[in-house]
Amino acid sequence: MKPIKVGLIGLGTVGTGTYQVLKRNQEDIRRRAGRGIDIAMVAVRAPERARGIVDEGCRIVTDWTEVVDSPDIDIVVELIGGIETAREIAMRAIAKGKHVVTANKALLATHGNEIFGAAQEHDVMVAFEAAVAGGIPIIKALREGLTANRIQSIAGIINGTTNFILSEMRDKGLDFATVLRQAQELGYAEADPTFDIEGVDAAHKATIMAAIAFGIPMQFERAYVEGISSLKAVDIRYAEQLGYRIKLLGIARRALVNGEEGIELRVHPTLIPNKRLIANVEGAMNAVMVRGDAVGESLYYGKGAGAEPTASSVIADLVDVTRLATADPESRVPHLAFQPNQLTNVPILPMAEITTSYYLRVYVKNRLGVMADLTRILADARISIDAVLQKEPAENATRLDIVLLTHQTQEKKMDAAIALIEALETVVGPVTRIRLESLN
Ligand code: HSE
Repeated sequence: MKPIKVGLIGLGTVGTGTYQVLKRNQEDIRRRAGRGIDIAMVAVRAPERARGIVDEGCRIVTDWTEVVDSPDIDIVVELIGGIETAREIAMRAIAKGKHVVTANKALLATHGNEIFGAAQEHDVMVAFEAAVAGGIPIIKALREGLTANRIQSIAGIINGTTNFILSEMRDKGLDFATVLRQAQELGYAEADPTFDIEGVDAAHKATIMAAIAFGIPMQFERAYVEGISSLKAVDIRYAEQLGYRIKLLGIARRALVNGEEGIELRVHPTLIPNKRLIANVEGAMNAVMVRGDAVGESLYYGKGAGAEPTASSVIADLVDVTRLATADPESRVPHLAFQPNQLTNVPILPMAEITTSYYLRVYVKNRLGVMADLTRILADARISIDAVLQKEPAENATRLDIVLLTHQTQEKKMDAAIALIEALETVVGPVTRIRLESLN
């Protein structure tokens, strides 16, 4: 059988990795796919640089439309990132009847419904393993390996930059700004790291996993997103003393509110008991914990970024598309795991309705009765306290931190309790609130 022809748009870190791994392992990949996979064309901004990477037989162009419009190309691989041009590439490729492989989580989380709708109409595949957790085959696991299950929850460390920063803050007791600078110097964090540190990148990935796990449309705009830029080293230290690690978690979970089904979709710093495996995922590594009714708990761990780990997922998609390109479209694995006419409209819950436990740090004046005031407010709100940490104040200290861990409660009850605590004359400044998940 003739090789399938691939057009690669973008030859940056992941594009180069994809080209090189495909070349290095071409014989094994051909034996697995049933035919060769040939990157016949690349679209790049700097053709001279590309010549040093790709072989003679590969055509280099600077205009991506040449790739998408070429009648010789069967699969378009979009690896340029960003949203607008990537969307144009995907939509035009689909309209031309080409399959699309992309690593672009921002694109799918924000325009996935439109893209998958168009792909359905044109009987083409859009594959996106590399969009979530880099080299970890989590899309494959959720969409196929766990297909017997009613998925109950997903909790993932799905941004390596923030996990690196949190690990360094904990190990070295450094503050956020110092570690961010180091991460940038080491090339972990982007020059503009906003999407990483503010939780947006993780929320894109959580949105995609939620869609596949629960059979719902992509709803990034309904996700709650909180990053790590205001996290203080002192909270990491107190959490440690209480037996917890703080991780930026992406959470997607089924929930019942007043008997109605809803879905929690949220990204925020989270305390996790340090004895959980996922709490021990350090540095730039990723991990995703999935709970299904049949399988129970399963954990997927690996590199969430980088040239070859991400290429590993891009090429897995190329092999899948190559195998299934000639299959009857009805027999292919659906883009979002569920048949397109079987998506449900279970709502994403507003943050006020979610249920979780909490870490609260309250900076107080060192006065008689202050602890009694805090516990009274929580008891009146029917919020149960799990642990308290109060350091003996330094001699003559007029202020100190009180840390409280609570049992589960609804976010709106906690909002109201925090407002009352902050109104106390003995409380100085805002309460620090970090959500806590026991993950059991
Ligand atoms: N910037 C991402 C991270 C990698 O730090 O994990 C690509 O999704």
